[in-house]
Amino acid sequence: MRVLVIGSGGREHALCWKLEQSEKVKELYCAPGNGGTSLVATNVSIQSNDLERLLEFSKANEIDLVIVGPEEPLVLGIKDMFEEEGINVFGPDAFSAKLEGSKDFAKEFMIRHGIPTAKYKSYTNYNAAVEGLKDFSYPLVIKADGLCLGKGVVICEDREIAIQTLKEVLLDRIFGDEGQKVVIEEFLYGTEASLLCFVSHNRLFPMESAKDYKQIFEDDQGPNTGGVGCYSPSPLFTEDFNEKVRKDVLGKIQTGLDKDGHDFTGILFIGFMITDGQPKVLEFNVRFGDPETEVVIPRLETDLVDIFIHSIVGDLASEHMKWSEEACMTVVLTSGGYPGYYKKGHRIYGLPYENDEIMVFHNGTKKDGDHFATNGGRVLSVTALGKMEDARRKVYDAIEEISFKDMGYRRDIGLFR
Ligand code: AMP
Ligand code: GLY
Repeated sequence: MRVLVIGSGGREHALCWKLEQSEKVKELYCAPGNGGTSLVATNVSIQSNDLERLLEFSKANEIDLVIVGPEEPLVLGIKDMFEEEGINVFGPDAFSAKLEGSKDFAKEFMIRHGIPTAKYKSYTNYNAAVEGLKDFSYPLVIKADGLCLGKGVVICEDREIAIQTLKEVLLDRIFGDEGQKVVIEEFLYGTEASLLCFVSHNRLFPMESAKDYKQIFEDDQGPNTGGVGCYSPSPLFTEDFNEKVRKDVLGKIQTGLDKDGHDFTGILFIGFMITDGQPKVLEFNVRFGDPETEVVIPRLETDLVDIFIHSIVGDLASEHMKWSEEACMTVVLTSGGYPGYYKKGHRIYGLPYENDEIMVFHNGTKKDGDHFATNGGRVLSVTALGKMEDARRKVYDAIEEISFKDMGYRRDIGLFR
């Protein structure tokens, strides 16, 4: 098969790394890819939102299967567009991608189908939204409706911050059209966890759970990032809890997708807040998570491309996915300043890291002559399998041998405290 992966992060590197191991994959491309994907696939210099050129490339190169990493091409309708040309895309169509592309759409879906989630109201009018604040206590959460590069969620400690946020989103339009509408939401206390599911025509097949570290500094201090460390499985997903999730969340999502006329094939990533052992859904994403993919995919013992094909054909079964009993952990090495301003282009020392026990997935690098250079806020995900304690030791030992100017990372990933 000739496979094209779209995207340029650690998630895409982990997907390419796994796909490259499949006997069924004869040609593997990644657009636009990064320094790491160039080690296992052929990089194609087309941006992930340039659907026209991606289609042209796919036709010219007789691509059999397209795997979409980021949400934007999905929300833009890559599935609908490529299907008309007879090219298989693993990912939802534009209608189902609204579960990530519009917070209001996702919340309406959850409420309509009885999926546990935070209480909310949505508004397009600034005055009505300010008036609506009285229905919530503080802190509360304000979310711009559309895709805002992960920046559209503000936790408001008091009324003054809430009014300022509503003004910025609805009147000043800091997110442009993506903020035409806002969702005001009850703040949920608890612990977050993520669950990725393969979805085949509305049937959900959960992967192993993961725990993502969102904040940049140790002890969960500082601003939120895309995720700077992760491990799988999450100990919160006990048998009891899994049963609750299956019944109260996954079952209801399946029924809801059917009832609302979706035909969802791809990935559904469910972000949970777990309060007193009860799951509540914070958000849906319609794509693999990053860095969740870097810790979940190494635990998959079966062929990934088989799973994609069976999902599309509609005969996916749990026996297609066997998971390693071993845990997996990753620590993300970041550029100084991230998630704020940071510099790119620093030479990375210690790569390629040659050790069978360690996988170094590239989040933001580029090949620069005979070496790699930093090219993003998140740079490398240093990953190992094993018993949690062993995986942790292996990862931190490996990090000692990798360096670049102003490199940062959290030292508390995988410590249960
Ligand atoms: P979202 O994109 O909706 O997942 O929001 C991004 C992050 O904001 C989440 O991962 C949580 O850390 C936080 N968050 C979102 N909604 C809530 C909520 N209702 N209560 C508490 N924290 C939230
Ligand atoms: N790690 C969170 C995400 O991929 O959205």
